[in-house]
Amino acid sequence: MTDTSTGTIDLSSVRVALIGAGNMGGPVGRTLLDAGVRPEHLLVVNSSTASSERAAEELGATAAASRTEAVRQADVVVLGVKPYQILDLVAELREDLPTGAIVLSLAAGVTLAQIEEALPAGAAVVRAMPNTPISVGEGAVGLMRGSAVTDAQHELLHALFSRAGVAVDITEDQVHAFIGAAGSLSAFVFAIIEAMTDEGVRLGLKRDLAATLVQQTVRGAATMLTESGMHPAVAKNGVSSPGGTTVQGLAALEREGVRAGVAAAMAASAEASRAMTAG
Ligand SMILES: NC(=O)c1ccc[n+]([C@@H]2O[C@H](COP(=O)([O-])OP(=O)(O)OC[C@H]3O[C@@H](n4cnc5c(N)ncnc54)[C@H](OP(=O)(O)O)[C@@H]3O)[C@@H](O)[C@H]2O)c1
Repeated sequence: MTDTSTGTIDLSSVRVALIGAGNMGGPVGRTLLDAGVRPEHLLVVNSSTASSERAAEELGATAAASRTEAVRQADVVVLGVKPYQILDLVAELREDLPTGAIVLSLAAGVTLAQIEEALPAGAAVVRAMPNTPISVGEGAVGLMRGSAVTDAQHELLHALFSRAGVAVDITEDQVHAFIGAAGSLSAFVFAIIEAMTDEGVRLGLKRDLAATLVQQTVRGAATMLTESGMHPAVAKNGVSSPGGTTVQGLAALEREGVRAGVAAAMAASAEASRAMTAG
C-alpha cells in the first residue's frame, strides 16, 4: 500500500455528484469539501427531494433536483448507495455520464470489473473503501484503481482524499484485509472504547471523566506509536514495572482472550467481505 495522500491539486473547479449521502457517503462528502471542493460544486442526491435537501444542508453542500442534473456536469460521480443498488444505478447513469468522468464506488463487495462492464468501454472507475473517522480527518481510505483510470485521474482522486487521514492504494485482493484492519475496525474500536468507559464508571469515575480519560489515552497511545515508530510491544513494556499494576492488568487481558477476540473480529469481517464479493 502506498500512501500518496498529498493534495496539491486545485479542487475549486472540480464538480462532484454524490449519490447516496448516508452513513458513509456523508463523511466522504465532508472530506471532499475539506479538500477544497466548493459547496456549489458538490451536488447531493438521496432517495427523495426532502432527503437530498436535508443531507445537503447537513454537509453544507447543494441538493440536486435529480440524478441526471447532478451527474451530467460531474467530473466525479460518487456512488454511496447500498451495494445491492450499485449495478442498477450505474446502468441508469451510463447515458448521462460525461466523457472523462470518474465513477467512484464506495460499495463493499462490488468489483471494478462488474462496474466497468455496466458502463461504456473505457469509463474510469475507482473503488474507495473508507472508514467513518475520515469525517474528522483521521480516517483511512483504500483506493482501488480501475483499468481505464489515467495517472491524472488517479492524482485527482488522491487530492480529493487528501484531508481524509491516510489514503492508500490497495488492490482488490487486499480489500478484505483492509476492511478488517480499517473499515470495520473503527466499529471494533468504538465498542472497545465503550467497554473501557463503562468499566471506568463501574470503578467509580463520572461518565464524562471516564470518557475523556479513555478517549485521550486511546488517541495518545496511537499518536505515540505513529510519531515514535516504536513497536507496540516495546511501548507496552515501558508501562510494565515488575510486579506492578499494569502487568496484573495485562495478564488479565490475555487470560480473557482479548487478543484472540480482536483477531477473530477482524478475520470475521475480512471473511464476510470475501463472501460478499463472491456473491
Ligand atoms: N457505513 C460504513 O462504515 C461503510 C464503510 C465502507 C463502505 N461503505 C459502503 O457505503 C455504501 C453506503 O452504505 P451506508 O452505510 O452509508 O448506507 P446508508 O447510510 O443507508 O446510506 C445510503 C444512502 O443512499 C441513499 N439512497 C438510497 N437509494 C437511493 C437512490 N435510489 N438514489 C439516490 N440515493 C439513494 C440513501 O438516501 P435516503 O436516506 O434518502 O434513503 C442514503 O443516503 C455501501 O455501498 C457500503 O458498502 C459503508
